[in-house]
Amino acid sequence: MISTSRTFLLTTSLLLILSLLSYPVLTLNLSIINKSTAKQSSTDLTYCSFNVQVFGQKKMQNNQVVDVLLKILSQCDLTLIMEIRDASGEAIKELLQLLNESKNSAGRKFQISLSLRLGRTSSKEQYGYIYDSDKVHINSTYQYPEDFDQFERPPYSVLVLPSNSTRSISLPNVASKNALFVSGIHTSPKAAVQEIDALYDVYEYYYRKNRIINSNIPWLLSGDFNAGCSYVKESDWKGIRLRTDSTFKWLIKDDQGTMVKTKCPYDRFVIAGSIDYEKVQVVNFKEEYGLTQALAEAVSDHFPIRMTIKNWLK
Ligand SMILES: *[C@@H]1O[C@H](CO)[C@@H](O)[C@H](O)[C@H]1NC(C)=O
Ligand SMILES: *[C@@H]1O[C@H](CO)[C@@H](O)[C@H](O)[C@H]1NC(C)=O
Ligand SMILES: *[C@@H]1O[C@H](CO)[C@@H](O)[C@H](O)[C@H]1NC(C)=O
Ligand SMILES: *[C@@H]1O[C@H](CO)[C@@H](O)[C@H](O)[C@H]1NC(C)=O
Ligand SMILES: *[C@@H]1O[C@H](CO)[C@@H](O)[C@H](O)[C@H]1NC(C)=O
Repeated sequence: MISTSRTFLLTTSLLLILSLLSYPVLTLNLSIINKSTAKQSSTDLTYCSFNVQVFGQKKMQNNQVVDVLLKILSQCDLTLIMEIRDASGEAIKELLQLLNESKNSAGRKFQISLSLRLGRTSSKEQYGYIYDSDKVHINSTYQYPEDFDQFERPPYSVLVLPSNSTRSISLPNVASKNALFVSGIHTSPKAAVQEIDALYDVYEYYYRKNRIINSNIPWLLSGDFNAGCSYVKESDWKGIRLRTDSTFKWLIKDDQGTMVKTKCPYDRFVIAGSIDYEKVQVVNFKEEYGLTQALAEAVSDHFPIRMTIKNWLK
């Protein structure tokens, strides 16, 4: 009897002490968990667009930078990455492998769809779409022709489907109501006005003239448009068809800075068609992860932009 009640007492006080001890830790961790799962309910699609500024092997050698990149990427189901410079292709492969293994990913596995190396000079860049293959299926890829000579780095696009929908869809009978035509662009800063205007032609090319994409499929265009400050002035907007035509909806406003050092609204989401979106935001990773200005700048000069497409898998 005595020993039982003593055990009981001991156990109870031990539990009490333990719970007191763990209370602040739990609270702290809960807030972290809350933050990092801000990304998604399981049927939503989190889409991100991120210019990772001169991404290559040098950046991969900085462990602190890689750590932040992994945190950012693990918050997204599909990410347009810009400025992949590394000619060997090793750096992005390594990043993807680390992302697969990262505890931030919690077992999710990612794949990548890479564009050609693009650019008119010897300085080439690749676009890449990093995606969670349990959620996203890339049906087909589309490189806007370089011969048209409208862009320094012509847009690279992918037709995506929820990974659990019909694996392949053909025109005109598009099986999945949740198909998305996703295009990425990194404009040449000095030609930003002309190139943003020419994105209207990209829409025409895929949707109207050639009907490569069924008009029921919404367009999700994003990237580093260089759409502000000295590259696009207030007076330029009236001559930019992508902006003046009401087919297109701009989700990041002109007063939303997307840069680490300035308030310039360079990065944008533009959509056409019906997309049930929410939580459009600039991801200030400096504040979110409490980084020094120097580390934030080492990650990139751009913040990612992020949006959620509701019930994409349903
Ligand atoms: C949060 O919990 C994890 C285990 O899930 C632990 O490794 C980590 O140290 C905790 N973080 C804090 C800040 O207490
Ligand atoms: C935590 O998650 C809940 C439920 O999604 C949300 O309402 C709340 O705003 C979040 N809190 C923080 C600090 O992110
Ligand atoms: C990441 O994991 C997926 C799924 O297992 C695999 O297909 C892919 O090759 C992996 N990527 C790398 C770079 O390890
Ligand atoms: C999806 O991919 C298949 C196989 O490449 C192709 O035949 C089909 O046309 C694509 N669907 C659309 C809507 O482009
Ligand atoms: C795909 O998965 C989602 C979430 O689990 C589910 O609601 C939906 O019905 C599934 N779609 C198909 C075609 O199986």
